[in-house]
Order: sequence, then structure tokens, then C-alpha cells
Amino acid sequence: MTRNGARLPDDTTIASFVAADTVPARADVLAVPVFGDLSSPDGSGATVDAAYLRQRRFDGKLGEVQGLLADDGTTVLAVGVGPKGSVGPDDLRRAAAAVARQSGRATHLATTLVHAVNGPEARDEAARAIVEGLGLGAYVYAGAPRRKADVAGSAPSRYTIVGARSAVVRRAVAGVEATCRARDWVNRPPRDLTPRELARLTTVAARSVGVNVEVWDENRIGREGLGGLAGVAAGAAEPPRLIRLEYGGAPPGGAGAASRRGRGRRGAPCVHLVGKGITFDSGGLSLKPPASMMTMKCDMGGAAAVINAILGLARAGAPVHVVGWVAATENMPSGTAIHPGDVLTARNGRTIEVLNTDAEGRLVLADALSLAVEEKAGAIVDVATLTGAQRVALGDGVAAVMGNDSGLVGRVVAAGATAGEPFWELPLVRSYRKMLDSEVADIKNVASGGAAGSIMAGLFLQDFVGDVPWAHLDIAGPAFLDSDDGWLTKGATGWGTRTLMHLVEGW
Ligand code: BES
Ligand code: MN
Ligand code: ZN
Repeated sequence: MTRNGARLPDDTTIASFVAADTVPARADVLAVPVFGDLSSPDGSGATVDAAYLRQRRFDGKLGEVQGLLADDGTTVLAVGVGPKGSVGPDDLRRAAAAVARQSGRATHLATTLVHAVNGPEARDEAARAIVEGLGLGAYVYAGAPRRKADVAGSAPSRYTIVGARSAVVRRAVAGVEATCRARDWVNRPPRDLTPRELARLTTVAARSVGVNVEVWDENRIGREGLGGLAGVAAGAAEPPRLIRLEYGGAPPGGAGAASRRGRGRRGAPCVHLVGKGITFDSGGLSLKPPASMMTMKCDMGGAAAVINAILGLARAGAPVHVVGWVAATENMPSGTAIHPGDVLTARNGRTIEVLNTDAEGRLVLADALSLAVEEKAGAIVDVATLTGAQRVALGDGVAAVMGNDSGLVGRVVAAGATAGEPFWELPLVRSYRKMLDSEVADIKNVASGGAAGSIMAGLFLQDFVGDVPWAHLDIAGPAFLDSDDGWLTKGATGWGTRTLMHLVEGW
């Protein structure tokens, strides 16, 4: 039971997905790929009547869906996948999302969409993208009132992916489940999804998959010198939390991984993920205008991605070692809130002049990044809904990435492409750093001038990573949408979750 009296499930459940070699007799709908020339590939499982489709003005455009009855009485969905020979995983993810949204009353849907591509490698990629499109496109917030679910025409509870390999489907399901749980957390009203609740949900979900979780309360946060996190939390009635997660790296049955912090299985330093966990960003005393505040429950989108990527890797049994850090607090205005002009001391001893309390993400990240550096992280990747400027520069469909290591930035871009979550690099222009020079502290939290907002935030964070290879992912735009778009759904998108999973898996 939440503070608002809503009954929410403690965990996210998604439909079941299985791989098969042939079309199962029991499926009530079969979704078949149709190219722009209205032909279907071999192995489609049903012959679609091109003349009928043409008559219905169906022309095989990507994402077009048309229902028809096959000769043997099965219901077939013709699914446009675009021109023959140029179909890729991003196309199939989009087509599959359209299928999930338009599958009518089907409860068990089978699809031969994998056959739209040729070759074993392309088929594996296709199968993954199809599971993602079906699972993510059908997402409805678990806390939504019943009528919302009914309007959405509740999607099938069972999918059979014909021509896919089981291992590929299982791995894709882990990504879908992680992304949907990230969406559920972000979509929860901020009054319900508090820092304490975020820590509790993390602990509950981690227990069943063997992820180690440590939570610091407000007293410990103060004792440990997390001045950025404590400073932002000073205005809130809800107490802050620092969450540390660790998966893998411990010898089976041996001593806990915590004794060898930052070190991997073979003693090699591992990757640390850091998430911004502002459960609501009012701006603090530098209060946001009402319109800008309406979506600010999304400000823990980075934290949701980090936590659920690690949970997803664990669920998939990925042979990796990864540590996660989440700094969680509300950013509220009150008589106890920090003032513009205050100076905070971060975990690593650096002092920060706070001139705008709405630039709070970088304050809490400063502490979390310092902790990762202290543990001798091999690399650090932070994810944050950090700047409105990211949205101005790249919009809602592309996230920004910055960093001090071109190899790491390249890996992020590649992992994002695999996930269907594009990232574009912005430069950390060294000569801009002087705009963050402060007269009273080591650094100030906003630049004079106000230009290059996303880069200035990146340059601020860079002061807290030393020379550890580091990448900063600013997902302010893509984290939360006004309307459905392909496999992305209105509201929280869970952006970054699957990118992080691919990044860590490829380590
Ligand atoms: N959480 C916001 C950034 C944001 C904006 C996320 C829009 C999602 C959508 C962040 O804390 C913020 O307020 N940033 C300020 C920084 C400024 C004061 C330097 C901004 O972008 O305006
Ligand atoms: Mn803010
Ligand atoms: Zn914020």
C-alpha cells in the first residue's frame, strides 16, 4: 500500500516469451512480415493475399499492421517491415511494437518476423529486437487504473518467436523486464517513490537474483561526509539514501565481494555505474516554474536504469562483475533547504559553491563518483537526467554522452546502438572549465553565462572522477516522453537500462 492508498505490486511482471522452430498450433494470432512489394519471406507460416492487402491500402510500410483471415481460418496480422533487403533490428523492434499495440484480443501471439532477415547472426539480432519491441511496446504502467489497461486493449500474455533461439529470447526478456521495471519506478508518483521506497524496492528485487545491496541512511550519509547529497536533502522532509549494489566477482561460496572492493574476479578493476536518484526535483529554493516541474518525478531515471541494468544482468546470469551507486533524495524548497551562496564539501574533500539549487544532480553525483573513485573503479559510467539543455540540443530521441576516454565513449555509443537507444557525443571543451571557477570554493555548480549547459554539467562532474576512465550519459530528454513512439511508451521510457546491460556484458 502506498501513501496514496494505491495497491501496487512489489515487482514488475511481463508476458512470457518462448522460441520455437515452427508455428505452434495453439497460437490465436500469427504475425507475419510483409515487405514493401507485398511479398512475405519463406517460412512465414501463412500465405498472405497480396491482392487483399492492396485493396485495404496496405503497402508494407514499416510498422503498418493489417488483420486478415488465412485459408485455414487462423487470424493473421500482416506486418509491414519496409523494403526487402534493408530490414534491420531497429525496424523489427518498431514493427513488433506496432504488433503488440494492435493485437486485439489475442492472448497467445506467434510471429515469424525473424524470417524478414537472413543468416544466423542477423536472426539472433532480429529475435532480440522483436522480443524487445513486443515487450516494451505493450508496456502499461502497473499502477495505472484498470480502465487505462482496458483502453490499451491488454496485450497478449504469451508470445512465440518462430525461428529464434531460446538463449537469445531469454537474454532479451531480461532486458525487457529490467526496462519495464525501470519504467514502473519512474512512473510512480513522487509521493510514493521516495528515496526510502527506492531503496526498499531495490533490496526486495535484488534478494531473489543474488545482487548484494547496501543502503546508507541519512545518519550514515552525514558521517561518511557526503556533503553534496546531504546538502540537497537538507530541504526535504523525506530522508535521503545512498544505495550501493554489487553483482558478480565473488568466488562461489567464498568471502564476500565487499572485501575486494572495486576488484573483479581475477583481481582486475571492474566497471562502476552511477545513477542520479532525485525522486522529485522542484528546483529547491531556485524553484522551477510549474510547467517545468510537471514531469520532475522522472529525475531518478538514471538511478532506475543503473539499478535495473544490474538486476537484469543478474537475472540473465551474465558472467560479469559490476558495482552500482545511487544517490537518492528529493530536491525541495523549505526553511531548512540550502541557499544559493552556500558552500558544500563533497566526499572527496572538494568544496562546491551552490549558486543555483536547481543544479542539484551534479551535487549528489559528485559524492557518488567520489565513492567509485575511492573503490578504485576500473571505469565509471554515470547516468542522469541532468540538463534541460540536453533536450534542447538533441531532443527526446537521442541522449548525450561525454567523457574523458574516447574508447569508453565509443563503447557507450555502440552499446546504445545495439539497444536501439542512440547516444551522441558532446565535447568536454577544456577551455570552458574556467567558467566554473569560484571565488570561495574549488568549483561552482553553475557557469556564468548559461551557454553549453550540458557540457558545463559534464565538466563539473569531471572534477570528481580523477583519471579513472569515465563516461557521463545525460538522458534528460529521452527518459520521459509526451507520447508513445515505437517501442518507447508515453511517460517513463527506461532509457539507458539496456544500453548499460550491453555495455557491461561486452566488458
Ligand atoms: N532535472 C533537471 C534537468 C531536466 C530538465 C531533466 C528537463 C529532465 C527534463 C536538472 O536538475 C536541472 O534542473 N537542471 C538545470 C540546470 C541549470 C540550473 C544549470 C536546467 O537544466 O535548467
Ligand atoms: Mn534541478
Ligand atoms: Zn534534477
